[in-house]
Amino acid sequence: MNNLAVREAIERLRESWGDRLLILGHHYQDSEVVAYCDAVGDSLELSRLAAASKAERIIFCGVRFMAETADILIRDEKGLPCGRSVWQPAPDAGCPMADMADGESLEAAWQYLATLCDDRPLTPIVYVNSNAEVKAVCGKHGGSACTSGNGLRVVKHFLSLGHRILFAPDQHLCTNIMRELGYPPEAVATWHRKLPNGGLSKEQVQAARLIAWDGCCPIHASYTVDDVATARATYPGAELLSPPEAPAAVASLADQTGSTKGIIETIARAEPNQTFIVGTEEHLVRRLANRKEPKVVSLRPIICEDMGLTTLEQILNVLQNWDEACCVKVKDELVLDARACVERMLAL
Ligand code: 13P
Ligand code: SF4
Repeated sequence: MNNLAVREAIERLRESWGDRLLILGHHYQDSEVVAYCDAVGDSLELSRLAAASKAERIIFCGVRFMAETADILIRDEKGLPCGRSVWQPAPDAGCPMADMADGESLEAAWQYLATLCDDRPLTPIVYVNSNAEVKAVCGKHGGSACTSGNGLRVVKHFLSLGHRILFAPDQHLCTNIMRELGYPPEAVATWHRKLPNGGLSKEQVQAARLIAWDGCCPIHASYTVDDVATARATYPGAELLSPPEAPAAVASLADQTGSTKGIIETIARAEPNQTFIVGTEEHLVRRLANRKEPKVVSLRPIICEDMGLTTLEQILNVLQNWDEACCVKVKDELVLDARACVERMLAL
């Protein structure tokens, strides 16, 4: 089937489903895919849209944890399937960072740290870029999810209650949040997931306000201070926009640190003669750079391969075959705890 025939077939099938179908896509999807999405957003916006949607079927163009989050939010009050379903056109698209934390290891870390925290309550916070069982462990222990867009608000909320936080899996996101909140570097201790007891003693834990799981997004963590120096030398006067998932050494050099949505909005509000160096995933940077003004360049082009796995052929395959391999079903026993974790975030 040629590209035009694929596009026409998608359009025909979409139309036949009408309001019963919602196609969601993350900003890091290819432009070809984005063109067929009813809504495009960052993780937070897409979670909200999935929660509010009444569509019978949601096709999620993104990675696994995003489709899982949508499934968690559309289940009935008992956490059981209710005739609505979530479909992922590229079922192998996962997230290497999400895979750096699993439910069992987070539970073990929680149990160890909770016994050491006899001075203040310990609350887990998980980046929404995490697997369903990780969200379930977080929800079970009274914690909340967060995204790059609302992480600062969520962390600040629990710190203001006097709690200590166990944050997983993105060490850079929480380190940058703590820096923005004015905490010194010593307020963050790192949980080394491959070391016994995370490599942390009771004294180290009690000296910290936040324990950071040692995971990271390989895309955002790859930016270096040298990348910043090169880009600044090439584009003098340009503003550097960096998401908080970049290492602190890079994020602290940025003119603005912001979520995906924040970066898009800053560029949309900018004067036509401004230039922006953007340190995020290349599918999005390319789309921003396609507009004539303002000028947008990449800090260093880097693609998230998992985000790039979704194709128009796969979307058409879902629409034609509704193949079970593409249907995302979180284990029933995880749904209520995982939903508590996500809903605490949505309520904050
Ligand atoms: P946000 O959508 O929360 O900005 O997350 C970025 C990301 O890496 C998604 O995979
Ligand atoms: Fe995961 Fe990073 Fe890819 Fe997002 S960009 S899906 S966090 S690896």
